[in-house]
Amino acid sequence: MIKKLTEGVYNVGAIDWDRALFDEIVQTPQGTSYNAYLVVGSEKTALIDTVEPFKWEELESNLKQLNVKKIDYLISNHAEQDHSGCIPKILEMFPEVKLITNKKCMQFEMDLLHIPEDRFTIIDEGDTISLGDKTIEFIMTPWVHWPETMSSYLIEDKILFSCDFFGSHVATSYTFAKYYDKVYHEAKRYYAEIMMPFRNFIEKNIKKVEQKDIKIIAPSHGPAFDNPEYIINAYKEWIDPTPANMALILFVSMHESTRKMVEYLADALESKGVDVKMRNLTTADIGEVAMDLVDVATIVLASPIVLAGAHPNAVYGAYLANALRPKARFGAIIGSYGWGGKAADVLKANLSNLKLELYEPVYIKGLPKADDYSKLDELAEWIETKHKEIGVL
Ligand SMILES: Cc1cc2nc3c(=O)[nH]c(=O)nc-3n(C[C@H](O)[C@H](O)[C@H](O)COP(=O)(O)O)c2cc1C
Repeated sequence: MIKKLTEGVYNVGAIDWDRALFDEIVQTPQGTSYNAYLVVGSEKTALIDTVEPFKWEELESNLKQLNVKKIDYLISNHAEQDHSGCIPKILEMFPEVKLITNKKCMQFEMDLLHIPEDRFTIIDEGDTISLGDKTIEFIMTPWVHWPETMSSYLIEDKILFSCDFFGSHVATSYTFAKYYDKVYHEAKRYYAEIMMPFRNFIEKNIKKVEQKDIKIIAPSHGPAFDNPEYIINAYKEWIDPTPANMALILFVSMHESTRKMVEYLADALESKGVDVKMRNLTTADIGEVAMDLVDVATIVLASPIVLAGAHPNAVYGAYLANALRPKARFGAIIGSYGWGGKAADVLKANLSNLKLELYEPVYIKGLPKADDYSKLDELAEWIETKHKEIGVL
């Protein structure tokens, strides 16, 4: 399916309607797309990025449909294989094509795809290439997604090809975003899973691309945006350091004791005006958990003691939160046990990146008793106080 963005600019990438999992971890309930953009100038033609290797035939067929006989420049914004994987095929199909990228990206692609060094033409920040009546400028946008990632800006048409930046795993037949609730949800999921650990870089990169006059943002996954401020503002909201007045309770419970604790804590928090989101770590969609993590001020990890440590699913939840580095400020670890062990230590060690202000762990024996509920009331009060201290409650 070919999607025309404007005169001479086409998305010739591939749609993956039923992709269910990405990077062997990220669920993609709306499928995804690998967008490759063909830019046809009065003198020369450029292709920006390619597609997953298993989607080569779709890219090839789109190029044939557009009767592309020659590609002068193949611009690679990002070395990850879902965008770079068909570069070798394009080099083979168009032996004269110049492969354009930055030095870091070249080094990745030499390792990942075994492309020989002499095939590359290296560009840097602010460099341009002319296609005749169209000019493409390169903007280095590191860490959205990898350290080598860059964006390409089509000056005359004011289109930013932002690669993974502003992307979403959504398969669509339409070119520009619509049905915004769905696009917002999937763009947030993408941000949460892929971009959140690099929030500081994102802020810098937003400032950088905002210096350009942008009419269209064309990312490498999901629909393009003909109202760029929509997705830029969403990103600004997600990276804003002020968290929401919300506690995320991630729990596991084998025999309902920890569950009784978290349900009680949720009620206590709700009665104090703190919003709560609870996720059972044995069944939750990890993408949804990642999305919750984008906003919350407090993370509560709740796990019984299992084999002298925490339940493995709780360790996974802690590890994931730690890796995603959300803006949360406060944390608590609670759970139930039978005879003893180090669940709290294990969970704490797995949260070390986050620099959370942690409440003293609340571990209780068996089913919670009156005293134990009082401890949870105290924890709820502490969370309430902390949220008031930072001005979100
Ligand atoms: C497989 C398994 C392993 C356990 N290992 C420990 C342990 O090492 N230390 C401990 O204190 N309790 C252990 N327990 C007991 C539980 O921690 C205890 O029953 C707790 O109350 C369960 O909480 P839950 O109802 O939220 O699952 C274990 C229980 C199970 C089922």
